[in-house]
Amino acid sequence: MPREHPLLPIVSLPFRRAGRDPMTCRYRCANSCAHPEPNASSTPYFGEILERSLSRRGVARAGALGLLVVGTAASTAGPAAAAPAAPPSGTTSTSGGRPGRPLPFEAVPPNTIDAVVTPPGYQHAVVVKWGDPILPGAPEWDLHRQTAEAQEQQFGYNNDYLAMLPLGTGGRRALLVGNHEYANPELMFPGYTGIPDAAQTAVMFASAGMFVVEIEQVERTGQWRLVRSGQRPYNRRITTTNTVFELTGPAAGSALLRTAADPAGRWVRGTQANCSGGVTPWGTVLSGEENFHFAFVGADEAPESMKPALRRYGFDTANRGGPSAELIDERFDLARHPHEANRFGWIVEVDPFDRASVPRKHTALGRFKHEGAATVISRGGHAVVYSGDDERFEYIYKFVSQGRMDRAKSRAARQRNMTLLASGTLYVAAFDATSAAEIDGSGTLPADGAFNGRGRWIPLASDTTSFVPGMTVAEVLVNTRLAADAVGATKMDRPEDIEPSPVTGKVYCALTNNSRRGADANPPADEVNPRNANRHGHIVEIAEDRGDHTATTFVWSVPVVCGDPQDPSTYFSGYDKSAVSPISCPDNLTFDSTGNLWIATDSAYALGGNDGLFAMPLAGPETGHVKQFLSVPVGAECCGPVISSDGRSCFVAVQHPGEITNSTVENPGSRWPDGDFGKPGIVVTWRPDGRRIGA
Ligand code: FEO
Ligand code: CA
Ligand code: CA
Repeated sequence: MPREHPLLPIVSLPFRRAGRDPMTCRYRCANSCAHPEPNASSTPYFGEILERSLSRRGVARAGALGLLVVGTAASTAGPAAAAPAAPPSGTTSTSGGRPGRPLPFEAVPPNTIDAVVTPPGYQHAVVVKWGDPILPGAPEWDLHRQTAEAQEQQFGYNNDYLAMLPLGTGGRRALLVGNHEYANPELMFPGYTGIPDAAQTAVMFASAGMFVVEIEQVERTGQWRLVRSGQRPYNRRITTTNTVFELTGPAAGSALLRTAADPAGRWVRGTQANCSGGVTPWGTVLSGEENFHFAFVGADEAPESMKPALRRYGFDTANRGGPSAELIDERFDLARHPHEANRFGWIVEVDPFDRASVPRKHTALGRFKHEGAATVISRGGHAVVYSGDDERFEYIYKFVSQGRMDRAKSRAARQRNMTLLASGTLYVAAFDATSAAEIDGSGTLPADGAFNGRGRWIPLASDTTSFVPGMTVAEVLVNTRLAADAVGATKMDRPEDIEPSPVTGKVYCALTNNSRRGADANPPADEVNPRNANRHGHIVEIAEDRGDHTATTFVWSVPVVCGDPQDPSTYFSGYDKSAVSPISCPDNLTFDSTGNLWIATDSAYALGGNDGLFAMPLAGPETGHVKQFLSVPVGAECCGPVISSDGRSCFVAVQHPGEITNSTVENPGSRWPDGDFGKPGIVVTWRPDGRRIGA
């Protein structure tokens, strides 16, 4: 709370960096940004795309026919969950629905305070943090005696995505489900010497993956806490190397997915680099495998025939790399098991209501560096999943299920719905322009007053048909980036989270940044990525034609171009910039039930302050009025925002507090939350007066 600011520790650091700290780059994505962009494809500009599409009318027509098969009914956001309890938070609740009202909380000012800071009138508390025992019988966490066996029973490191799913109908208990993206040995192990040994590597990989924990409401307030005793029958850790996943969809069983350990190509142990995710309308949780290449070594000795695809996914084919997961499991050495690389980079689906369930990897949704996956049900009943590929100059995708959701509230219906993501059509987005000639990379708004245009969803593959000449269905789904290159998809400024509004059905995508836009031989700014050297990112709105999420055409616009509002290249839907909070590097998105967009940031210290959570109305006179709702501690990223369906609780995941170059356990960059050294954890914010967040 602001009046407490003078009492909060302000960490003094060499800390006016541009963008993400090098330590985060190293451990999250193996310094991807220091390497050339993996997308060296010569995607044509829009005029050429149009020409090609005309000459490819056969393909376009095939796509349209495909849609006739999967349904063309108009659509809105999805219905309530078919299965457990109430609609999951953060998905498709339709309560409220009034156009965005002013958000009356007092904006948190930009700061470098080593604490979570919330507006006056709000309280916050840690729900669960790294090391907390979560499985019955789990050992207490011991900094000096960390083991993989213990870590697999404790809350993991670097929490990212969060979902809240009510348990029963009383509203007092819920499941918190999410993931742990990656580990950082320098901040985890006292006396760390610079290269992890096998035991430390095992702890690191055990600390990543996914989690399910039971939480309980505290005295009917908006506060929630971890249930710390009892059977806790849903609590679960899913790990990066051990939990068995079933591959589903058209590429399951293909030669590209077969290995010595899995000659059938149908089972994978582990999930890697899970970043954001989504809750399905049938009450399961999706999670995106993002920077999965980080787990592997030995791409330099992979078969030459695989190297172009490996390079396209950011693998270093000139050096062995590492050490990494091969220290604990040889299948992560691509010199010996090259196809293992193809078994990561998928959307995974977990049923949090059944601890014994086998989670799945859905090949029909394509393989790339999935940020997350947002599911809506079209009015015709098809499941439509939007997903971004988070790397510079990568693409935005959507999947349309072949089958329709069974809306019956029965166990059998839920089981049927859990097969929906195994069969359907995958598309990639191409954006056209209305003001192409005016885009000069400065961010100056065109004469028509908007960065906007129309766009198309280009089909890549259905269950049985590849729409990409020269590639089979399995090749399209396994090497999806190469397929998207071939059809002229639009190269975007790092697509992160994508979320549909529960009120309007319009879809929002965070493009977090792309400092290399327009540099060297890279593509220059275009209308949908309107700034060169885009350090602060922007948000794109997609409105599917006829409000139909299965449509193959849409209109788009850019409601927000982020940065310091005093920077003339910024744009906030025309709102008075003097009243707007500075915001940089939008990453995770969510909605409250009245349709306000909530934006969590990653790397806001591109502006000199800590990351945080921001809110912005999307309708009415307050449209574009971005206000900072909270900030996270020094060196941390704000992830996984969730607003509970009753609107009274807001959860965020504080990821990598203190992740600043040269920080260690002994010399921490952050002391949050316990005063000793940084520990990732989940925070809930609520109002003691019982009113709704932001109301
Ligand atoms: Fe893991 Fe794209 O952020
Ligand atoms: Ca325009
Ligand atoms: Ca992210």
